[in-house]
Amino acid sequence: MTTAGSEPTLKSRRERRWREFYERPLDGKLPIFFRDGRLYDCLYAQQFNRETLDRLCALADHMRTITKEKGGDDFLQSLLSHKRAMLYFSQPSTRTFLSFASACHILGIRVLEIRDLKTSSVVKGESLDDTIRTFSSYVDLVIMRHHEAGVVERASWGLNGTPRPLPVINAGSGADQHPTQALLDIYTLNRYLPGGLDGKRVVMVGDLKRGRTVRSLSYLMKNYSGVHLSFVAPKAFRMQPDILDFLDRHAIAHDETEDLLAAVEKADAVYMTRIQDEYDQTAGESKRIDYSPYHFTEKHLEKLPKKGIILHPLPRREEIAPEIDEDPRAVYWRQERNGMWIRAALIATVFGLEDQILSRSA
Ligand code: NCD
Repeated sequence: MTTAGSEPTLKSRRERRWREFYERPLDGKLPIFFRDGRLYDCLYAQQFNRETLDRLCALADHMRTITKEKGGDDFLQSLLSHKRAMLYFSQPSTRTFLSFASACHILGIRVLEIRDLKTSSVVKGESLDDTIRTFSSYVDLVIMRHHEAGVVERASWGLNGTPRPLPVINAGSGADQHPTQALLDIYTLNRYLPGGLDGKRVVMVGDLKRGRTVRSLSYLMKNYSGVHLSFVAPKAFRMQPDILDFLDRHAIAHDETEDLLAAVEKADAVYMTRIQDEYDQTAGESKRIDYSPYHFTEKHLEKLPKKGIILHPLPRREEIAPEIDEDPRAVYWRQERNGMWIRAALIATVFGLEDQILSRSA
């Protein structure tokens, strides 16, 4: 902070530089997140084009095939056994954390972690910039989840100016984005929808305002032709105007409806989400809402087309009863496992290993 009339301090100049960078339109910034013609920092879903998505899905498929044999598994583990990764998670996580750790293991990367900031030097008053810079002394990749939007990007911005820059992968940035979840969702949709995602109707249900998974997934839809999105959400938690504008700009058909049953009847895929009450602005904000119209029940299962599928980023609460799991159209447990493979494919791509892996026969 500067007081009127005083010179800006170095710290405030740095903060100003960061704000200027952060507020720049994303399209202009995207090239910064690529190095040597390939992905480097993975911060936004908007970074991914169709070609990259198709290649990641093909690479994930190939990796899961070759690991069926010990020889293939050993080969993959040898590729990055000289690398280390930091998993820095300031928010709770089960599957994103475990799938990233497992993805690292598949490629032989050794993993370090900070999950509880109380065990880090943050409690001694260290700034986040300094904490992140410390990672660059020890590791080669940062995988980061943070409760505040923008902080993961700040980490990559801070590291870029150091003698030992590192790629940063966004594992969830507040209520804003979760690009690697969107990658695994796309991988799942393409795997289980007959003929893939092009031309399909996807229904997104739940807390669409604060659900970062549905936000990132909506961005990725620009890469598929003829997709129709239906949003079903309580009034207070409707899909936000920034996403609706994006869909309009990219001519992606979308509608909002209160009628889950009618939407399900026409759906190729139903993407369920839980209420994101950790982002409540006022105490009990989420509790005042009747969430039951946004639950997927037996009644919806009956109406879902035979080839329709049900996704959920998990964790779930009451929005899908465990009995639904038995239906073959419920693909969320497979979706969860797909996350490990697509994350392994992403990390392999960041380290430039794609061709080497694809040329290894199964
Ligand atoms: C999601 C998240 O963290 O945003 N979970 C996940 O990464 N699989 C969804 C959620 O927590 O509701």
